[in-house]
Amino acid sequence: AAFTDYQAETATISQGTVATNHTGYTGTGFVDYTNIAGSYVEFQVSAAAAGTAQLSFRYANGTTINRPMDITVNGNSAALDLTFGATTNWDTWADQSISVALNAGTNTVRATATTTNGGPNLDRLRVTGQTDSTAPST
Ligand code: GCU
Repeated sequence: AAFTDYQAETATISQGTVATNHTGYTGTGFVDYTNIAGSYVEFQVSAAAAGTAQLSFRYANGTTINRPMDITVNGNSAALDLTFGATTNWDTWADQSISVALNAGTNTVRATATTTNGGPNLDRLRVTGQTDSTAPST
């Protein structure tokens, strides 16, 4: 497949809840991060071969203040935190992307809120560019 989607609501959630109280999400809901630094969602991302992949996080932020998150792959921080800026309201979703190196096999991708506001509402992680034949397609 050209990409693989991983829904936030079926990922591992630390200090957040699955919610459906806004429109426009994919899957069965989204994760509402607890408004605290350190809250995270962790995905198990499958790659058939080592190489560069694009991680695209679909999110909503109905405030005017960025909700930055630290993105780690197998425990290593990506070069930059993603900012997760305003999306006008909580029913409006946007994507923020970053390129990372994946190992062959299972990779742990974690998105951790770095401010006391917590993370944005997180709908899903889309992984593009990895050569995978076994990961779920939704
Ligand atoms: C509101 C909104 C939630 C959001 C929260 C927040 O309560 O309804 O979906 O997660 O604000 O500020 O994080």
